[in-house]
Amino acid sequence: MLYHLYYFSGTGNTEHGARRIAEALEKDGHEVRMLYISRTARPLPERPDRLILAFPTYSWRPPVLVARFLTRLPRGGGTPAAVFTTDGGGSFGSVDVAGRMLRRRGYRVVLKGAAHYPVNWVEMFPAPGGEERARSVEAGDAGVDAFVRALRAGTPLQRERSKIDGLLDFVGILFGAFGRHFLGKLFIADEDCTSCGLCARTCPSGAIVLGKGPTARPRWTWGCESCNRCINTCPTRAINTSPVRGIALLALSTLAVVLGFRLFGPASAFLRGALPPAAASLANIAAGFLIVATGPILALTVLDALILRPLLAIPALRTWAGRSFTKGFPRYSFEGFKPPSEH
Ligand SMILES: Cc1cc2nc3c(=O)[nH]c(=O)nc-3n(C[C@H](O)[C@H](O)[C@H](O)COP(=O)(O)O)c2cc1C
Ligand code: SF4
Ligand code: SF4
Repeated sequence: MLYHLYYFSGTGNTEHGARRIAEALEKDGHEVRMLYISRTARPLPERPDRLILAFPTYSWRPPVLVARFLTRLPRGGGTPAAVFTTDGGGSFGSVDVAGRMLRRRGYRVVLKGAAHYPVNWVEMFPAPGGEERARSVEAGDAGVDAFVRALRAGTPLQRERSKIDGLLDFVGILFGAFGRHFLGKLFIADEDCTSCGLCARTCPSGAIVLGKGPTARPRWTWGCESCNRCINTCPTRAINTSPVRGIALLALSTLAVVLGFRLFGPASAFLRGALPPAAASLANIAAGFLIVATGPILALTVLDALILRPLLAIPALRTWAGRSFTKGFPRYSFEGFKPPSEH
C-alpha cells in the first residue's frame, strides 16, 4: 500500500513521531512517501492508497500553515486518511478540526490520535529538562505506537475530552487569527546575538528578517506561526520574549483603538441622522468591531515600524527591552532535530 505522510514540525517532536510511524509501516511492507509541509509545499503528484497528516497542536488547533496546505490537497475521492498530532498534554479537539478539513477535501477519516511529547512553548514556559524530559519523550513514543497499532488494526482511538472543548476551539481560532502574530512580535534578540542568520533562514513562515551588516540583529515581522523554533534553536540563546515590547504594543493597540473611535465620532453622528435607527445601530456596531480589530493590526505593523522599532534602536532602550523572564529557561528541540533548510 502507498502512504503519503504529510507533516509539519516546529522543534522536532512531530517529525520524530512521523518517522516512527513511517518506519513501522515500512516494516509491514508498505511504501511511505513523507513530505514536510512548508509555506510553498505542493502535494505529492500521485494518488496514495492512504494519507496521514501529522502536526503539532497550537492552542488546541492545527497550525495555520497546515490548514492552508490542506486547501492545496487534491480532492480525496474517499481516500482513507489518518490524523496524528503531538501535543504537550492536551490537544483535545485539534485532531477533529483537522479531520473536518480533510473531510471537506473529500477524504474519509479513519483514525485520529495524539501523542504527548515535551512542551516546546519556551516563549512562555520553561521546557522540561532531565528526567522529566526523558519521561515525556517515552510517553510520546508510547502514544505513537498506540496510533500505529490502531492503524494496523483499523480500530479508532478514544480522544481525550475536556468539558470546554468548544471554548478551547474558539480560543484557538482567535490564536490563529491574532494571538500568534502578537506573540511573534514579542521576540527580541539580545546582545548575545552573533548575527549568524540561523533564525531567519529556518523560520517556517519567513517572519524573521535579518538586517545587513556583520552586527545586524533579526527582527520579527507579521506572520509568525508561533512554532517556537527560533527561540529554541538559536545557538546563543539570544532570542527571548520581551515584556517591554508586549506592554508597548498593547499600549499602542489601545491608543489606535481610542483614536479610531474618536475619528469615527462625527461619522457616527452623521449615520444616526441619515439612517433609520436600526440601520444606524447596525452600522455603528460593525464600525466598532472594525476599529477594535484594526487597532491592534495597525499597532503590530505600522506603529511598531514607525514608533517602537526606532525607539528600540537606541542602545540603552534596546538592552532594557531585551531583559526577559525567558533568558534562563531551558530550551527544547527533539534530540538531533535539524530544520529542513539545514539538512
Ligand atoms: C504556541 C504553542 C501552542 C501550544 N498549544 C498547545 C496546546 O493547546 N495543547 C498542548 O497540549 N500543547 C500545546 N503546545 C505544545 C506543542 O503542541 C508540543 O510541544 C508539540 O509536541 C510540539 O511539536 P513540534 O516539536 O513538532 O513542533 C503548544 C506549543 C506552542 C509553541
Ligand atoms: S539565530 Fe540567534 S544568534 Fe543567530 S541571528 Fe538569530 S538571534 Fe542572532
Ligand atoms: S518567528 Fe520563530 S516562532 Fe514564529 S514562525 Fe518563525 S521560527 Fe516559528
